[in-house]
Amino acid sequence: MGWQTRECDVLVIGAGGAGLRAAVEASAAGARVTVLSKSLLGKAHTVMAEGGMAASMGHVDDRDNWKVHVTDTLRGGQYLNNWRMAELHAQQAPDRVRELEAWGALFDRTPDGRILQRNFGGHRYPRLAHVGDRTGLEMIRTLQDHGIHQGIDFLMETTVVRLLKDGDRVAGAFAYDRERGRFHVVKAKAIVMATGGIGRAFKVTSNSWEYTGDGHTLALMAGAELVDMEFVQFHPTGMVWPPSVKGILVTEGVRGEGGILKNSEGRRFMFDDIPPLYVDQTADTPEEGWRYVTGDKEARRPPELLTRDHVARKIVKEVKEGRGSPHGGAFLDIAWIKENIKDSETHIKKKLPSMYHQFKELAGVDITKEPMEVGPTTHYVMGGIKVDADTQMSKVPGLFACGECCGGLHGANRLGGNSLSDLLVFGKIAGEAAATYAGQHGEVTIDEGQIGEVETMTLAPMERSGGENPYAIQHELQDVMQDLVGIARVESEMAEALEKIAKLRHRADCVSAPGNREYNPGWHTALDLDHLLMISESVARSALGRRESRGAHSRIDHMDKDEQLGTVNTITRLSGDGSLSTEHVPVMGKTAELESLVKEMG
Ligand code: FUM
Repeated sequence: MGWQTRECDVLVIGAGGAGLRAAVEASAAGARVTVLSKSLLGKAHTVMAEGGMAASMGHVDDRDNWKVHVTDTLRGGQYLNNWRMAELHAQQAPDRVRELEAWGALFDRTPDGRILQRNFGGHRYPRLAHVGDRTGLEMIRTLQDHGIHQGIDFLMETTVVRLLKDGDRVAGAFAYDRERGRFHVVKAKAIVMATGGIGRAFKVTSNSWEYTGDGHTLALMAGAELVDMEFVQFHPTGMVWPPSVKGILVTEGVRGEGGILKNSEGRRFMFDDIPPLYVDQTADTPEEGWRYVTGDKEARRPPELLTRDHVARKIVKEVKEGRGSPHGGAFLDIAWIKENIKDSETHIKKKLPSMYHQFKELAGVDITKEPMEVGPTTHYVMGGIKVDADTQMSKVPGLFACGECCGGLHGANRLGGNSLSDLLVFGKIAGEAAATYAGQHGEVTIDEGQIGEVETMTLAPMERSGGENPYAIQHELQDVMQDLVGIARVESEMAEALEKIAKLRHRADCVSAPGNREYNPGWHTALDLDHLLMISESVARSALGRRESRGAHSRIDHMDKDEQLGTVNTITRLSGDGSLSTEHVPVMGKTAELESLVKEMG
């Protein structure tokens, strides 16, 4: 029993791109920084953003600029974005990319030596600065090197159980290390939450075991609010076969490099149903008529690069109507580019080295010669902790958030590549603001009784005997979310999901995790269940309350958009008795200037 105590000015929870960028900034501002990472340093979902980071540097098409980027982001998010966040993001992304390069990131190059940019879905011009298909990995490597040189204190494989408070203000975190099960109390004047997503609430996901929604629920429990939890992104292309690797990401970079989608009849089905917003009404054929935005024929894009929500739904439709691939997906073909590119095999291996190895080693498929089988995979949550755009501080004094666990920037659907630039832009803002807050506020005091309660609760699953296995509950929950709150939603199923989640919550209160505190994955899973169940309920409740289809939220009982719902965000709150409630509030951050910019840009 007992805990070790350490102190810092700024505690960063999470060591993916957002957490590392926040830590670097807070440290540069003179704060003593501690980073807690649930996993090993370097193992973050950031590396799954493979295809690049979006920044309007205009190196490949000089018509690009921040105004086009913000307009694309808002259109992609169906205008539910926090408009101020979208503006800051588009304005600051190019500088953040250049800064990363100055810190040692090695980007692919244009023939004249500038950072190369590639096409991605929903972006009007080639905008993604990239390192082959390993961009997220290069970002993490660069930030890690930079952070270590700044003398940041890291605690790896350490999971936070609860945030601790001093009155209204956050004051630290209670955590355990996975290896030995020792408890740690980290006292901090400010906390930056950067824990990533919630993918493990679903059965098929590109997220690894760490992504159980911890940051979202820790913030809720501390008194913060969540925004737009109904918007969960199903990336259209995950592996569908073999079963052991189902859900692993197949980067959008494949389509960015010319990959096309076909059904079992060999037909390029993405031309079937291009949303009116993207069709040139004056063209004779769909192939001719597809373009990115009205009036700009130069900016035509293949339909495979429509937004992710649309592409994912189109694949599901083909499968449902019996035109899927043998293992329940669609065919993604990059090999066809041999018709246009001389040594296409070398080209594909150079542009998509990880994809080449992934398919060769895991599925026995040579992507330079054969098509891949792909289908939607839960990849990202647009919803997250509600913050002030300019500081990233939540409603709770001293609690900041950035990256995937933070909501607002992406609205109803995130454009690919906007996640890496999001991490850099808002990681920096959060780190800076947290350091300022810590500098302006005095020491915190944490009452020992508060810590003792969390300690007792943390040990409970190990001290109970004869209870259920936590893995069984986790698996049931994943089935419920996948089947009833997945890519196509309907009122009755979501209501059923909520009933099932409530029952699973009762059962989770009684799980046992026999064994001792030294590496005990059953115990860790029992503790993760708290987060998974709460976040799943928040997604289901928010989805039930949005009676329309918009972006990634697709309702088969309300197929159309509801104009009024197009002006509101969904807020989730937790009350003292542990129940969650939702409310619709006006979309955040809109200004007359941005509204006229959107009108002007089309
Ligand atoms: O497909 C991808 O490379 C993923 C990128 C992203 O989620 O931003």
